[in-house]
Amino acid sequence: MALVTTKEMFEKALKGGYAVGAFNVNNMETIQGIVEAAKEESSPLILQVSAGARRYANSIYLKKLVEAAVEESGLDMVLHLDHGDSFEICRQCIEDGFTSVMYDGSKYTFEENIAMTREVVDYAHPRGVVVEAELGTLAGIEDDVMVGEKEATFTDPEKAREFVERTGVDSLAVAIGTSHGAYKFKGEAKLDFARLAKISEMIPDTPLVLHGASSVMPEYVAQCNAYGGKLKDAKGVPEEMLRRAAEGNICKINIDTDIRMAVTAEVRKFLVENPEEFDPRQYLKRGRQAVQKIVQHKMKDVLGCSGKA
Ligand code: G3H
Ligand code: 13P
Ligand code: ZN
Repeated sequence: MALVTTKEMFEKALKGGYAVGAFNVNNMETIQGIVEAAKEESSPLILQVSAGARRYANSIYLKKLVEAAVEESGLDMVLHLDHGDSFEICRQCIEDGFTSVMYDGSKYTFEENIAMTREVVDYAHPRGVVVEAELGTLAGIEDDVMVGEKEATFTDPEKAREFVERTGVDSLAVAIGTSHGAYKFKGEAKLDFARLAKISEMIPDTPLVLHGASSVMPEYVAQCNAYGGKLKDAKGVPEEMLRRAAEGNICKINIDTDIRMAVTAEVRKFLVENPEEFDPRQYLKRGRQAVQKIVQHKMKDVLGCSGKA
């Protein structure tokens, strides 16, 4: 039981035609729900922390909670920095004991992204830490900034090859039509699977990463709305598309919104049905159970990583 890198996990996932879930964590209940799910499913696990999560919880609390999760569960897991936007935040996380970092230079030019990613790789690798980078831009909300659909650019397969060769990166996040948050598609959900196939052909040994991969499950959206929420036209990536991506070279599937939505749906319901209750443990417990349920569902029915720990 230890914090491990994604290296072996991704090698197995690439060969085995499944993906490992990378779940965003911000607090104790979410970590406990996810880890309980991984235990039940004997699944490999990536816990990821964004800059926003580090600001919210104070990075040392998250680090200690994840260490507690390793000790209590007896599972190997990866502690990953999600969307690091500078060398400095990657360096800090490596110092803090993260086993994997994402340097997200997707808002920079191709050459700038390569130079910055290379710098992070050169710092991380000698310290035994793996690096994910991103090429192309996702639409949606990133770092509290709204990226419009017009500014989103899909990953160019030729450039992906050059990028991986010149940076030495361990995995690559690709833009093929997903986006962050709860409003991913205005009309019909569509991903560019032809592009994904070309990218996989160009860099067959590079594990690919799918960000913005929440399904925004209609039952949780409906439950939020039934208990006072106002989430209009929320829409995510259909699960059959995620299964298809996981069977190919997508080895890491990032899920945050689905967990947020499940917790909010359960807490809303509990508070409306129990107006006399004021002990946070009572509703946070419901939230934690909801996290476990949704994560087990993802592992078993979508990602295909159950039993692969
Ligand atoms: O990629 C974005 C993740 O969902 C993290 O979101 O920056 O609000 O923590 P956050
Ligand atoms: P979702 O908003 O679809 O859950 O995506 C999360 C993500 O990509 C985190 O990096
Ligand atoms: Zn992301």
